[in-house]
Amino acid sequence: MSKILIVKDLCKEYPLPRGTLCVFDRLNFDLENGSLVAVMGVSGVGKTTLLNLFGLLDKPTRGKVFLDGEDIFAKDDIKKALIRNKKVGFIFQFYHLLPEFSAWENVSFPLLIKGVKRKEAQVRAVELLKEVGLEDKVELRPGQLSGGEQQRIAIARALINNPKLLLADEPTGNLDWKTGRMILELIRQLHIKKNLSSIIVTHNEKVAQFCDKNYLMQAGGLTLI
Ligand SMILES: Nc1ncnc2c1ncn2[C@@H]1O[C@H](COP(=O)(O)OP(=O)(O)O)[C@@H](O)[C@H]1O
Ligand SMILES: [Mg+2]
Repeated sequence: MSKILIVKDLCKEYPLPRGTLCVFDRLNFDLENGSLVAVMGVSGVGKTTLLNLFGLLDKPTRGKVFLDGEDIFAKDDIKKALIRNKKVGFIFQFYHLLPEFSAWENVSFPLLIKGVKRKEAQVRAVELLKEVGLEDKVELRPGQLSGGEQQRIAIARALINNPKLLLADEPTGNLDWKTGRMILELIRQLHIKKNLSSIIVTHNEKVAQFCDKNYLMQAGGLTLI
């Protein structure tokens, strides 16, 4: 089976007032096409740091990440931004929606950035909002919606460009368990329907049970558990 993600000897250090903090060094990891995996680990272990590297939101100190066969950190910033917009969908714990804009406008932004016309972007955003069960709420702003509904908007936004890789950082961390479970079921259903490869980062074992494989991040490494 081919790999959507190959990570080679990845290192991330953050500068501190004195010296540096090494979050991980020589971290290796592969993600098979079509798999849905959880990365677990206690708070502060480096899960968000790792996901941000996979999603090109940050740069490693050393090491390589191949996304869909491309050595992503060898590219310039413009090419990286293009790869991120085209191939990666991100879901965050706190949704990261723009409060002044309606549900469909939030979902349409990745298309507008690509140069898609507003009317076409609206049609596609509304279609995707239907797929996440929000057809009645397309004109509402995030503040008029529940946490679970806001996360559904964020999921639609993450998928609007038909990414290959879906990255979710504690996607249910801000939701009650019943709502969280519905969000996880939705992620799993869309993962299959849209042929995604997906990573869910979580500190919660119940969340990890929704995934095909679970990895534990500790002491700077990832182990299959
Ligand atoms: N921008 C940053 N600058 C300095 N240290 C950071 C930064 N981001 C994260 N860290 C540190 O890196 C470590 C890993 O953080 P993080 O990846 O957020 O962990 P997790 O998501 O597993 O809770 C923590 O010790 C955190 O304080
Ligand atoms: Mg985190």
